Amino acid sequence: MLAGYETTSTALAYATYELARHPEVLQKLQAEIDQLPLGNGDSSDEKTKEYPDYDVVAQMPYMDMFVSEVLRMYPIANTVINRCASEDTIVQGIKIEKGTLVHADIYSIHYDRDLWGPEDPYVFFPERHETKRHPMAYLPFGAGPRQCIGMRFALIEMKMLLVRMLRKYSILPDNVPYTRHYHLTPYCQQPDDDDEQDEEITNIKDKIEGKPIIFSELNKQKVTSEQLLLCWHIPIPFSFLPVNRIATQLQIHDIEDREPCSSSCENHGRCMRCTNNKSLFFCQCEHGYSGPRCNIQHRCSCTNDSYCLTSSICVCSLHKFGPRCHLKNSIYQSNNTSCQHNGLCTTHDDRISFRKFTYFCKEDYSGERCESRNNEITIPLHETITTIASSLFIHFITAFSNVKHEQITLFSN
Ligand code: HEM
Repeated sequence: MLAGYETTSTALAYATYELARHPEVLQKLQAEIDQLPLGNGDSSDEKTKEYPDYDVVAQMPYMDMFVSEVLRMYPIANTVINRCASEDTIVQGIKIEKGTLVHADIYSIHYDRDLWGPEDPYVFFPERHETKRHPMAYLPFGAGPRQCIGMRFALIEMKMLLVRMLRKYSILPDNVPYTRHYHLTPYCQQPDDDDEQDEEITNIKDKIEGKPIIFSELNKQKVTSEQLLLCWHIPIPFSFLPVNRIATQLQIHDIEDREPCSSSCENHGRCMRCTNNKSLFFCQCEHGYSGPRCNIQHRCSCTNDSYCLTSSICVCSLHKFGPRCHLKNSIYQSNNTSCQHNGLCTTHDDRISFRKFTYFCKEDYSGERCESRNNEITIPLHETITTIASSLFIHFITAFSNVKHEQITLFSN
């Protein structure tokens, strides 16, 4: 997994990080991508437009320099480049005994001014790769017989993805300061029951069980600090990376389990202990305030039917999307009727696919459009049976492992 997956995805995370920091690099890369031939002489070939082939992507000088610069500045697998001396040896006057593990200091090599100047090696500058350097000055994939065997594959994979992504999207920097504090606002959607919508959530566990939890349909005026209920402490494993993927299971306990604590949450917050680590706490902020001590006031620019989590995060209602929830999800609206049994369907992300739906089905229903009833088995009878038989008895026996079997008999005339 580490060799074939984490390496390329982490390198791509750094690539997007540098693109966000350097709009001029993004522009040059997009200019090169826009000039790529669209298909084999046939510009209507949509598939080739989406998936440029190997030969096309391999002929992109600026892309090549860009990827090389990403891997020079972020040689992500530097720790695995080591060798064990199989016999006593002397290298430039230094005696290395048999069995000694020798580790190459890749960062010092990649940031060496003599090897990578005259431009400052601490600056992201793809054009530096136009100059031919010493072959051992660039070692993101190691060197020698044990060099990375996935190198060519990884490079083409990275380039393919960047071409496809940057053809449609630009990566822009976030202009708000980076914060690691997030509040999740769980809310149980009860689509057809308006009376229930106003009800205060007193026992989250009961409400959530068996129902989808979605972050939507919150009425801005009604949200109070009471609805920011829980906190989980989830450590970030590789905090030096600009992007981290975290998969975790959030255990939801009864709200009564919450224990108050004493810490300064200024005037607009309440100190609460974290659900999975009682020694840690968080400040439960009033609406309109955020930050570790609830002392950051923000103006909300989300639409009225959405919820302003912080000054930069809007939680949109089901049929809206966009950074400020101004955009209407027309797909959701036009397909709403195709969602059966009073369920709600919305596209995963209509910028990616118009066909993939997320469904919020009523209890006992499931399927892409809530079409199937849970625990329902359909047994079709062949028409020869129904034509030759004048009446039918059908016995269904349900077998349970711990209680007596159950039998149901149906009679049809
Ligand atoms: C950007 C992506 C990648 C980077 C930066 C990277 C880097 C490295 C490095 C530094 C080594 C050690 C080389 C040495 O000791 O001299 C290595 C080894 C290896 N890599 Fe990669 N790698 C990447 C992607 C991949 C992919 C996609 C695969 C497989 C599909 C792969 C498979 C391997 C294998 C099997 C080895 C061990 C080779 C051996 O010991 O003979 N790598 N990689």
